[in-house]
Amino acid sequence: MDLKDAIYTRRAVREYAAKPVDEATIRKLVGAAVQAPSAVNTQAWSFVVVRDSALLDRISAQAKAHMLSTTPAGLLSHHFQDILNDAKFNIFYHAPVLILICSTEAGPWAVENCALAAENLMLAARGEGLGSCWIGFAQNWLATPAGKAALDLPANCVPVAPIIVGHPKAFPPPIPRKEPQIRWIGP
Ligand SMILES: Cc1cc2nc3c(=O)[nH]c(=O)nc-3n(C[C@H](O)[C@H](O)[C@H](O)COP(=O)(O)O)c2cc1C
Repeated sequence: MDLKDAIYTRRAVREYAAKPVDEATIRKLVGAAVQAPSAVNTQAWSFVVVRDSALLDRISAQAKAHMLSTTPAGLLSHHFQDILNDAKFNIFYHAPVLILICSTEAGPWAVENCALAAENLMLAARGEGLGSCWIGFAQNWLATPAGKAALDLPANCVPVAPIIVGHPKAFPPPIPRKEPQIRWIGP
């Protein structure tokens, strides 16, 4: 797929077919992720591939409870409160794979490095005809001692980007973008 098509048709996919993603494809996505730039070329990232659906269900339940108990009152919209309180809502949308991108050092650009890898991975997924979505709902809990233990993350690993991947039931239509604010300085 042409790069422009991948950029313009990548969507946050929230409905997945019950079909696994094979290991070779996951390795391709990780291969694309590590082509991302990283500050001082540290490549300080690692990848955890979770294909255990029972574990993903447990993480979903814990992450929802964590969000509800730790988010300051007023910061969670009614919509978010409703879905997080809904026992049937799975934050991973029952996707077959979660790829968690972790920083392997808590340096000043840990988040930037992993976020760039994440976008590469999501665009590569689109190129493979796969859907993906960054699951911010999982982030806070995964960074807790219990979250790190659930995935057996080494002490130096900082979870940054939880990305679900799978075969989409359909690619959602584009979400209109706001007109970008651009200030031109100079000729
Ligand atoms: C940092 C980050 C966190 C996100 N967290 C969630 C999430 O927890 N659940 C979800 O359904 N979508 C999540 N998204 C997806 C966004 O909602 C989505 O990218 C946005 O609505 C734009 O839609 P598009 O990706 O289809 O263009 C997240 C995206 C980003 C970048």
